[in-house]
Amino acid sequence: MRVVSGIQPTGNLHLGNYLGAIRNWVRMQDEMEAANRAQATGSDSAQANQCLFFLADLHAISLPHVPADLRAATREMAAALVACGIDPERSILFNQAQVHAHAELQWLLNGTARMGWLNRMTQWKDKAGKNREGQSVALFTYPVLQAADVLLYQATHVPVGEDQKQHLELARDIAQKFNNDFCAEDAPVFTLPEPIIPPEAARIMSLRDGSAKMSKSDPSEMSRINLSDDADTIMQKVKKAKTDPEVLPGEAAGLEGRPEALNLVSIYAAMSGESVDAVLARFAGEGFGKFKPALGEVLVESLRPISERFNALRADRESLDAILARGAARAREIGIPTLDAAYNALGLVRGRG
Ligand code: TYM
Repeated sequence: MRVVSGIQPTGNLHLGNYLGAIRNWVRMQDEMEAANRAQATGSDSAQANQCLFFLADLHAISLPHVPADLRAATREMAAALVACGIDPERSILFNQAQVHAHAELQWLLNGTARMGWLNRMTQWKDKAGKNREGQSVALFTYPVLQAADVLLYQATHVPVGEDQKQHLELARDIAQKFNNDFCAEDAPVFTLPEPIIPPEAARIMSLRDGSAKMSKSDPSEMSRINLSDDADTIMQKVKKAKTDPEVLPGEAAGLEGRPEALNLVSIYAAMSGESVDAVLARFAGEGFGKFKPALGEVLVESLRPISERFNALRADRESLDAILARGAARAREIGIPTLDAAYNALGLVRGRG
């Protein structure tokens, strides 16, 4: 198995990222290690089950950005991932920009991706809105870079939230078409990756609007819980979260048509490791005056160790840079054979400069 996933280093790591993706990254990292021990693959690390996690800094330039902020945010996001449990000894942690093969493979895949496929991407439509002509080309071709990110490493599993599912389907389509067009049937260049989406937290919604996903780009800080928020801020954000005037029902079916209530109960369930029904069994008939402080406490207690580790790590620029440089070197080693194979399949010879 090869697990690969990425996160954009823009803004803070929030609860949606954590529950939708990062928690699964940590789980898979631990499973991989157990599987490696069982298989006793020894020192041949290129053959072992592996996890590669990266900061998608190349993706971040698809929207307007401040260069100095991007550099700082890349380090901060690395610190946040380590604080969440990504262990740079067991997983390969790096930033895309240090591995030239991502951008290079994207160009090769641009020959295979179709305009029509990219035009159908809902994230492109959402982000471009009515002003498509004014967007960067990078925003449009963003999903081809994302395909390169995972195909470069022959990823078998890609843990993501629901909003990335369509991008991964596109990565599979690109891989399939490239293999069909340029490879012998018994010698495909690319592996088709499987998205791994957690059923219990696939889409965490904004605290201010149950129909919008929790997002770094929401202008309201009150819409999201950041993993770096202190206890008072978390309690305040939960207290102010939008709800409805009804009491909580006894089971999940009773939350239908109540998106804000469903979101808060789902967050409670995902953080405490219970099912939505188990949480509701405890709070049935109670209003949000009782539920919100309980939710706030669960959040504060579970996030406390993460925010403490984050605060200890974030100032240590040298260690973070060293982690990313070492991760990039290991990633390059794994990715280059696939990059070479893609060049060869296209009738090109890669330069060694
Ligand atoms: P990004 O940076 O927006 O988000 C990182 C991860 O967090 C998940 N996520 C959520 N999950 C549940 N509820 C939410 N409200 C929520 N918000 C974000 C995302 O699904 C994602 O898994 N294009 C990607 C980064 C990327 C990537 C890749 C991912 C670049 N290359 C290759 C996987 C494989 C992005 O912008 O994620």
